[in-house]
Amino acid sequence: MSRFSRITGTGSYLPPRRLSNAELVAELAAKGVETSDDWIVERTGIRARHFAEADVGVSDLALHACRKAIEAAGCQAADIDLIIVATSTPDMVFPSSACILQNKLGVAGCPAFDVQAVCSGFVYALTLADALIKTGSASRALVVGAEVFSRILDFSDRTTCVLFGDGAGAVVLEASDVPGIWATDLHADGKHVDILCVPGHVSGGKASGSPLLTMDGQAVFKLAVGVLEDAARAVLAKAGKTEADVDWLIPHQANIRIMQSTAKKLKLSMDKVVVTVDQHGNTSAASIPLALDTAVRSGKIKKGDTLMLEGVGGGFTWGAVLLDY
Ligand code: ACO
Repeated sequence: MSRFSRITGTGSYLPPRRLSNAELVAELAAKGVETSDDWIVERTGIRARHFAEADVGVSDLALHACRKAIEAAGCQAADIDLIIVATSTPDMVFPSSACILQNKLGVAGCPAFDVQAVCSGFVYALTLADALIKTGSASRALVVGAEVFSRILDFSDRTTCVLFGDGAGAVVLEASDVPGIWATDLHADGKHVDILCVPGHVSGGKASGSPLLTMDGQAVFKLAVGVLEDAARAVLAKAGKTEADVDWLIPHQANIRIMQSTAKKLKLSMDKVVVTVDQHGNTSAASIPLALDTAVRSGKIKKGDTLMLEGVGGGFTWGAVLLDY
């Protein structure tokens, strides 16, 4: 009998401090940075984002999301035999946020590691967990996307600081006799490192180079719309399915215009696209599991629906996962 993996529970968490565009615009104006609600909404679709308090780390946000996912799956933390955290804003340089999270969950022993693929991180992590379950190395994985991008934003750069937010999302992925995950498709092209990066590193006891995010927004936009279409078509072909089989597209939540363009290329109505960027901003690796959990808990996504998850981000990295929920 074939062995597949299937999502059995989802969870998410947003830190309580919510900033509407108007509130962020006022905070930035006090620092001499000029922007507007109109510009942010028109160019990105973002209306609000959440920022974590200074003493809250990625593992704290992840812990809340994981508890909800574990509860939804009807299991206990002790039943988890693999933890993968996708993040670009880890608690420490090392050990991994996954190890820190494992300890906060009150368990020990199972493998735990981080995946670094920026905004594609959750799709990468889900693909890895699927592969480890299919080969029998794991049976019940916790797959997490969690970020505190507010820590790496340059609040004097209006072209980036209005775009991002903090949050976490998680799924429990279990071995199953039926799919579950139909197909996955991952890619990277390292020649685009410079268009979206945090170039600094830790050296000699201090941050060497800039520890803040820099982005060529237009270059990212152009690459993103191309590769998202390619990844969607590739994963459908691998699964032997067509666009018509997709009930919900859950793209990385960076910009409503990228999502509209992807939906149009795939001939999917925007009614079939899960959109949370308006309320969450771009939460990088957390954005897809946050959107998934929001749509599951609102009743939009139902058991058996076919979902296309699509990530794209720094690296440049991109990929897609096609699954039955
Ligand atoms: N408020 C007001 N004006 C602004 C702001 C702002 N916050 N930011 C930029 N502007 C101005 C610019 O200075 C420019 O002014 P100018 O014409 O006088 O020079 C004008 O707005 C237009 O700027 P553009 O960069 O051309 O704006 P664009 O329409 O391309 O939108 C954006 C910018 C939103 C960043 C867009 O390019 C985009 O969404 N790119 C993709 C970003 C993305 O998806 N990033 C995440 C990838 S995932 C990851 O790995 C993190």
